[in-house]
Amino acid sequence: MAPSAGSVKQQIAKLIEESLRTTVPDEVDVEPAIAPCQNPKFGDYQCNNAMGLWSRVKGKGTQFKGPQPIGQAIMKNLPPSEMIESCTIAGPGFVNIILSKHWMAKSIQKMLVHSIETWAPEPPVKRAVVDFSSPNIAKEMHVGNLRSTIIGDTLARMLEFSKVEVLRRNHVGDWGTQFGMLIEYLFEKFPSGEVSGDQAIEDLQAFYKASKQRFDSDPAFKERAQRAVVSLQGGEEKYRKAWAQICEISRREYERVYQRLGVQLGEKGESFYNPYIPRVLDLLNEKGLIEESEGARVIFIEGKKIPLIVVKKDGGYNYASTDLAALWYRLNEEKAEWIIYVTDVGQREHFEMVFTSAKQAGWLPAEDNKYPKASHVGFGLVLGEDGKRFRTRSTETVKLVDLLDEAKNRCREALVQRGKSEEWTAEELDKTAAAVGYGAVKYADLKNNRTTNYTFNFDQMLNDKGNTAVYLLYAHARICSIIRRSGKDIEELKKIGTVELGHPDERVLGFHLLQFPEIVEEACTNLLPNILCEYLYNLSEDFTRFYTNCQVVGSAEETSRLLLCEATALVTRKCFYLLGITPVYKI
Ligand code: ARG
Repeated sequence: MAPSAGSVKQQIAKLIEESLRTTVPDEVDVEPAIAPCQNPKFGDYQCNNAMGLWSRVKGKGTQFKGPQPIGQAIMKNLPPSEMIESCTIAGPGFVNIILSKHWMAKSIQKMLVHSIETWAPEPPVKRAVVDFSSPNIAKEMHVGNLRSTIIGDTLARMLEFSKVEVLRRNHVGDWGTQFGMLIEYLFEKFPSGEVSGDQAIEDLQAFYKASKQRFDSDPAFKERAQRAVVSLQGGEEKYRKAWAQICEISRREYERVYQRLGVQLGEKGESFYNPYIPRVLDLLNEKGLIEESEGARVIFIEGKKIPLIVVKKDGGYNYASTDLAALWYRLNEEKAEWIIYVTDVGQREHFEMVFTSAKQAGWLPAEDNKYPKASHVGFGLVLGEDGKRFRTRSTETVKLVDLLDEAKNRCREALVQRGKSEEWTAEELDKTAAAVGYGAVKYADLKNNRTTNYTFNFDQMLNDKGNTAVYLLYAHARICSIIRRSGKDIEELKKIGTVELGHPDERVLGFHLLQFPEIVEEACTNLLPNILCEYLYNLSEDFTRFYTNCQVVGSAEETSRLLLCEATALVTRKCFYLLGITPVYKI
């Protein structure tokens, strides 16, 4: 595999950096300011350093008379490079750069030969934790957990593509006082002590509700439940067993969701960190961070009125103490350099307080652009079509599995209506329905800026027109069929053919393909999957324009154009992969 030379943007930045060293040798630490041109008429990239430099050097007896001459000099001092076709100066010294078509074509060809892995970005970390999905045992796995599962998986995939080792952590809520009541209720239903209640407590949510009702209405039960917590935390065999059983039933329910979505997760629940809490609190205490307040032990945070409670009045630990222990563990035992938490925006405050405590303790650097780093990835609510919090049908809870199955069934129905049940095997039909149905649910979520609320609507997400996974999957299948119908061996063409970008629409498409590495990098750095979705949608539009205006099969440029089709298919598939969507090859 050829080594990655960095994204096009990075390569341009390197050239500009060299030029800056010659242009303004006395100004150290000037970062090259490169952006894609807003208007492609003027060029592909633009260097915006001149203005900022002018305000730095003027009055220092500089040879330059204004920002424009600085721009001129930056342009003149660019080292010769086969990347660049030409440059122009615009306005007060912007340097517009036009890439060489020949170089662009060669870069695409290299990717075709050496695989798209050579286009992976290179982030500055080796190991990351992505804490996502993380439902609470015995409570409903709600659409919020689904959003976290979908967004977290994509972020993990983008980092993995970038060769970061990712610890995919399911931080399940498997600890806390609610287990006393659940265990006690389990004993009540199975007095023999022989807990074989798989069937009897299959519906854990109903079980949770019933036990809560007992807890709230019967003081004697409540007392027993409170004692059960102590027995559980003391490690008594009978209680541990009951607890483990309840966790196992929940787990089976989550697994059904993960299996449909093709999501891998390693469980390290809240209970895992429980033994670490006392030591971690000692460490924080030694730094003088923990204080007494109204009977509780707390950490006061700069800029916050309310402190972070780390030991409750009754001496018990809570969500925050667990997260502090987990953060300590991830930094010190797992040696993660980037720790990413995916939850709804409602938990922003909690994570801000935990991260600030860690900074005050010196576990994390104070500056946000340094590593190790902790990031909270917050997302908005899922709304129903009525604009209220999403719920399915009459029941108040959403069975996520049913929701996913409905997406798949609707897709199967649409395929049957298009006559595919006669054309395809049952297995093909099933696989395609699953790919399109689950893909549609994921894409509908990921294409929005995650911080906004989004409306769950089957009709919209399953539409085969517009910005949906269905449209994009079909577009991909169409590209594959163009290549198939040409009757050419594409692997052979990769070896002998050359890519050319003669037609303006070919050049636009080629440029878009080349931007893939910097887009993944941007989506990854900002933890925003919607950037990748937008890129993918625009790619399919650029492809359509190319295909409408440039004859592929039977033209003089057939080989080059087939290679361009293949490059588009490869980048599209990589986008699908990063978004957790299974591609389809025929429609
Ligand atoms: N179980 C929590 C919930 O359902 C999410 C946990 C997120 N991760 C964490 N380390 N706090 O809201």
